[in-house]
Amino acid sequence: MKKSEIVVLAGGNGYIGGTAAFALQEAGFVPVIIDNFSTSKKGALKGFEILEAELTDFSKTKSVLKKVGPIAGIIHFAAKALVPESFKIPGLYYTNNLVSTVNLAEVSVDLGIPVFLHSSSCAVYGVPKEVPIPETASLQASSPYGDTKIMAEILLDRYHQMEKLKVLHLRYFNPAGAWPKYFWGEAHDPETHLIPNLILSAIKNEPVSLFGDGYSTPDGSCIRDFIHVVDLAEAHVKALQMLLAGKTMPPRLNIGRGEGSSVLQVIQTAEKVLGKKIQVRREPARAGDPPQLVADVTLMRKVLDWMPAKSLSNMIEDDWTWRSSTVK
Ligand SMILES: NC(=O)c1ccc[n+]([C@@H]2O[C@H](COP(=O)([O-])OP(=O)(O)OC[C@H]3O[C@@H](n4cnc5c(N)ncnc54)[C@H](O)[C@@H]3O)[C@@H](O)[C@H]2O)c1
Repeated sequence: MKKSEIVVLAGGNGYIGGTAAFALQEAGFVPVIIDNFSTSKKGALKGFEILEAELTDFSKTKSVLKKVGPIAGIIHFAAKALVPESFKIPGLYYTNNLVSTVNLAEVSVDLGIPVFLHSSSCAVYGVPKEVPIPETASLQASSPYGDTKIMAEILLDRYHQMEKLKVLHLRYFNPAGAWPKYFWGEAHDPETHLIPNLILSAIKNEPVSLFGDGYSTPDGSCIRDFIHVVDLAEAHVKALQMLLAGKTMPPRLNIGRGEGSSVLQVIQTAEKVLGKKIQVRREPARAGDPPQLVADVTLMRKVLDWMPAKSLSNMIEDDWTWRSSTVK
């Protein structure tokens, strides 16, 4: 890799994009962020060039990126990503997530940006027929949000087939944790994810919600494959380096640990890590929450020659360290 190659992070002001920005910088890249601050705070991320643009506006996106200089690759993190919200305002999800994707693809072609990494999701699998889930599993999302990830994959695959872009979809499972060294963690509003809510409950001594306890799993709660956000960021660095080096890659990779933990197991782990009892409030299951999502990571391990290093306890510990310094 040439040092100081510019990589544009669309939606890079958010939780995963911000973490990736630090990891890319450590690897010698120059991350440039483009964001509309719709689901993240302006000014929260520091130390990078951050440009404001609405990605659903093609002309604005193109004119902003044109000024950046030669761009080696784009990583497309920008999306509205709350499953429950996507049932309430599906039109906004379809518009925001798909128009931003087609605009970024078109701008990349126009500006000759060769490499395009896309933040996809295990939400594309809906309720999977087999677990762990291989990349070849059939796609059937359980929410409008999941639909947008399937549709974005389809449209970007077409650009790839037409040899206009080198596209790689990274299908994230459940990112969690923080990067306390950089004072960076998950700060969504509203927060729908388990680990941040669990830590907030522990800090405030309030019960955490358990959505559904009648799933067909050993303890009745949902099973998810949690991956530390710093490991996830490292996967981006590896994948990008390989694409830029001209390595042949499969079109899509699951990115997880290949290990399932139920919601109740996560709560028990948090109690051990924090040395604190956490109260649980049982609530009805949420629409769009499949019983089990665990990645088959065979292809990821083989292609990237890599496995995530951090444990569920590390995710809980790091979120706690970061969040307890931010919550007033
Ligand atoms: N967090 C997860 O659990 C998870 C799991 C699987 C996949 N993903 C995907 O990873 C990506 C990043 O997720 P995250 O948790 O960091 O989300 P986030 O909400 O923290 O970050 C998304 C960023 O994109 C920006 N954005 C959204 N629409 C935009 C637009 N039209 N123009 C410009 N900027 C826009 C937001 O302001 C925000 O900074 C998303 O594509 C999401 O679907 C996330």
